[in-house]
Amino acid sequence: MSSRKVTVRTLRQKKRRGEPITMMTAYDYPTARWVDEAGIDVILVGDSLGMVVLGYPNTLPVTMEAMLHHAKAVARGAKRALLVGDMPFMSYQVSIETALRNAGRFLQEAGMDAVKIEGGREQVDTVRALVEAGIPVMGHIGLTPQKVMQFGGFRLQGRTAEAAKRLVEDALALQEAGCFALVLEMVPAQIAGYITQRLDIPTIGIGAGPDCDGQVLVFHDLVGMFEEFTPKFVRRYANIGAEIRKALQAYKEDVEARRFPASEHSTYMEEEEWQTFLRLMQET
Ligand code: KIV
Repeated sequence: MSSRKVTVRTLRQKKRRGEPITMMTAYDYPTARWVDEAGIDVILVGDSLGMVVLGYPNTLPVTMEAMLHHAKAVARGAKRALLVGDMPFMSYQVSIETALRNAGRFLQEAGMDAVKIEGGREQVDTVRALVEAGIPVMGHIGLTPQKVMQFGGFRLQGRTAEAAKRLVEDALALQEAGCFALVLEMVPAQIAGYITQRLDIPTIGIGAGPDCDGQVLVFHDLVGMFEEFTPKFVRRYANIGAEIRKALQAYKEDVEARRFPASEHSTYMEEEEWQTFLRLMQET
């Protein structure tokens, strides 16, 4: 693995060479370090943090301030990966000017290299304005969680031929507007494969089958730290939640049984100082 910083150019080259692109979410400093050290190409500070870190039922309550707070921590932990800040609900939909200001904050204040926005043709003007301002934009179509209320749940998108055709048109429009890559979330595998073939920019799939140029998962799903539900497309590589539960139980039992802290966890005064202290206390 090269230690050179991953850029949008690196991703384009990987697509051209047919090398899979890896992307993972991170929301804090230690996770960013682990993901970066693993050689993952792209770290997404996703607004999924609203669900897996902040405990909301969806991503809608996530604010720009929360995103910047987490993005700054991630930027302190990662050296090599391309860092993408996820524009939260209502940070880019209101006006192009708002989108520019908020996207700019990700780069200027939080150390991100790029931003991601959800949506298809309706976001083309915004993408164009951001790209013209020098801000690299990753698109995101298919299941776009910020429209969960409109979709009536987290459901597969592009199931019918007509809906799939609209997805292809959205993908082409976003590429034309200047996106450097495109997330395809929860779309039929054949459609994701078709879009990947049609586009020059890389596609990154989540629940979109094996034929995308890259894959992304939410860190907490991957390591078993989000236990409310597990989407069908997730492969769990560890069960950290169960390990944490075990550790907390053991700690509680040790404290209650006075097994912790043991002498190796404690620091004692020099004996002479201690005796002087006891004499002093007797005099008072
Ligand atoms: O917010 C997020 O983590 C995302 C990924 C699931 C692509 O948008």
